[in-house]
This record gives sequence, structure tokens and C-alpha cells, in this order.
Amino acid sequence: MKTVKVSLKERSYKIIIKNNIFEDVAYYHFSKHKKSRAIIITDKNVAKYYIKNFVSFFNKYKSETLVVVIKPGEKSKDLLIVKKIIEKLLNSNIKRNDVIYALGGGVVGDFSGFLASIILRGIKFIQVPTTLLSQVDSSVGGKTGVNTKTGKNLIGSFYQPSAVFIDPNTLRSLPQKEFLAGYSEVLKYSIINDKKFFLWLDLNYKKIISKNSKIMTEIIANCCKKKAIIVKKDEKELNYRMLLNLGHTFAHAIEKELNYKVKHGEAVSVGLLMAMKLSVLLEKTNCINFNLIKVHMKKLNLPTTLNCLNPNQKWNAKSLIRNMQSDKKKVDKNIKFILLNDIGKAYIENHVSNEKIQLTIKEFF
Ligand SMILES: NC(=O)c1ccc[n+]([C@@H]2O[C@H](COP(=O)([O-])OP(=O)(O)OC[C@H]3O[C@@H](n4cnc5c(N)ncnc54)[C@H](O)[C@@H]3O)[C@@H](O)[C@H]2O)c1
Repeated sequence: MKTVKVSLKERSYKIIIKNNIFEDVAYYHFSKHKKSRAIIITDKNVAKYYIKNFVSFFNKYKSETLVVVIKPGEKSKDLLIVKKIIEKLLNSNIKRNDVIYALGGGVVGDFSGFLASIILRGIKFIQVPTTLLSQVDSSVGGKTGVNTKTGKNLIGSFYQPSAVFIDPNTLRSLPQKEFLAGYSEVLKYSIINDKKFFLWLDLNYKKIISKNSKIMTEIIANCCKKKAIIVKKDEKELNYRMLLNLGHTFAHAIEKELNYKVKHGEAVSVGLLMAMKLSVLLEKTNCINFNLIKVHMKKLNLPTTLNCLNPNQKWNAKSLIRNMQSDKKKVDKNIKFILLNDIGKAYIENHVSNEKIQLTIKEFF
């Protein structure tokens, strides 16, 4: 078992990483919220594998439960669906001391966290993430939200969970494509500020592909620690937390270009490499680092070019740059990039010419 603390004064909480953790979650509820109902929100795929087992432990401790199953996928991150589930919970007489458990990937986590932050002006919620992306990233840090027609995650709140319970064993049922998409975020942490971690990942790539339990526990704990440090320094993403957007300026533009019919993590994979290439073109770092990352990605079968993401797309650098310029989260007219002086040395760059961005993109056709 490994524990990581997220220190945010009165909003501090623990992340517990342990195989077969469901009974611990039920015991936590029994010991801390005995008189409250456990509202478990999950999606259909996750329910198929885990809901029976999860609920059985709440039954063992004689805690009352209510299970809500949403459709899997990004389409569930919708204000109308949040409203529908809120009405359902209000009709079932939800109380302010009831606790929401988000059992699932980032979609369930973002959806449930947002719902918990607005229902009855906010009730407690606990994350039980079941994808690699949600275990190393979205379950920690308190960003919650839903999508709009204009873009992703444009409605939401900063609302921290009261605890995060991670069971690395749940990764066994996760499709390999989803697993690898989540792995891009793992790689991102190493490239931001920990070259040693990157080299360790590279050494252990075979065990990673086979989801070796010991290695995965190590990876999840390390990433959670890194995210906890960043969130403690800058909870509301005013400056330092932006480093977590490494590769994401490119990735968001790619996702938009493909009408979001691409896995976020896959776009991040190409985005990370683009950020590295741009850093090389600006002479901030060297080709050796670019190649180290590219070779590592290839070993893991991660996408490294735009055509790997969609070979039928007519890629156009200008259009991708336009997507970056219209990014709703952009606060001034410059496109911000997270660039690298080295693997493990990321920084925020405010001024990059369009010419250099174009040159970078064209290398990935
Ligand atoms: N809040 C944040 O800080 C933050 C950070 C990054 C991403 N996100 C959000 O996270 C979402 C993506 O999350 P995701 O990649 O976890 O996707 P997801 O939640 O859609 O899960 C991916 C798929 O795997 C299935 N699944 C989940 N766990 C499984 C398991 N153990 N076994 C088998 N199938 C399983 C799901 O049903 C789904 O079909 C996006 O909406 C993104 O915006 C949020």
C-alpha cells in the first residue's frame, strides 16, 4: 500500500493506492460516514466489471447505497445529463451528509465531481478511479466539469475530493488502447521535471506494457506525488500548474481538428513530441532528447505522427494554429507553450513565432 497526501489546508486529503481496495473504501464510509448513504456513480462498462463487488462491501458494513449508471464516454459530460441525475437524486431524497463515490475513469470523475459540487450547494465526494489516466491525473487536483458545443470542460468547478482510493488491479480489464492513452500522461510527468523517472520508465517498458502490478503501483504513486506537489503550489492553475499542460496546446488543437474523435491521451502523445521538436527548433534543447522520447514512445506503441492518429485526415498546419488561437482558455493573444530545456526541465514560453509553430507541425505530417 502507498499513501500520498495532497496538502491544501482544510481541503487536504489522502490518496491511497492498494490492490483490492474496494473493501477499504466501504470501511472508510462505515467509519466516517456511518449514517450517510453512499451514492455510487459509475458508467456501464465499469459497472459490468466492478459494481457487484464494490457494493457487496458496503452491504457487508450495512451501509445504504444508491447506484447511478451513466453511459460511457465523453457525451455523458453534459449539463443536461447532470441535471437529469440531480433530479433523480433529489427525488430519492439525497441529504447533505450523503457521499458521492465516483467509480470509473475521468469521465465519471469529472461528471460526479461537478455534480457533487453543485447539488445541495456541495456534498462530499470520493474518487475511485479505474483508468490509468484517471489514476495518475484527473482524480487528483479537484478540476471537475462538463463539455459544451464550444469546447471541452468549459463548465466546471474546482472542487477537491475528500479522498482518492486507487486499485491498480482495475487496470487489468482496461483495454490496451485506453491504458496507453493514459500512459502519455505518465510520460508527461517524467518529461516535465524528472529525467531519472523517464529513464526508469524506459528501462521498465516491457513490464509497463504488461501492466505489471508492482511497477504500476510505483508509477501511480510517483505521478500522484508529482501532481500533489504541483496542485499544492498552484491549486487554481494561475501559473505553475500550467506545466501540466506540456504537449496539450498541440493536443487540444489536434482534438478539435479531429472533432474530438481521437483519444485525448493519443493526441497528448503526439503533442509531447511536438513540444520537444519546437524546443529543438528554438535551440532550447537537442535532438538527442527528442529521439530518446520518440524511441521510448515507439517501444510502447504510442502514436508519434499526425497520420498515426488519422491517416485519412488532410492535415493543415494553419488550421491547427487557428485552433490554438481560438482556444477558450487562452488569456492573452499569445499562444502559450510549455517547452523543454532538457528532459525533466519544462518551462512556460509566452512568445513563439507562427513560423516556428508551422515548421514544427509540418514535421509530423
Ligand atoms: N479533471 C482533470 O484534471 C482531468 C485531467 C485529464 C483528463 N480529464 C478528463 O478525463 C476524461 C478522460 O478520462 P479517461 O481517459 O479515464 O476516459 P473514460 O472515463 O472515458 O474511460 C475510458 C473508457 O474505459 C472504460 N473503463 C474505465 N475503467 C475501466 C476498467 N477498469 N476496465 C474496463 N473499462 C474501463 C470506460 O467505460 C470508457 O469506455 C476526459 O473527459 C478528460 O477531459 C480530466
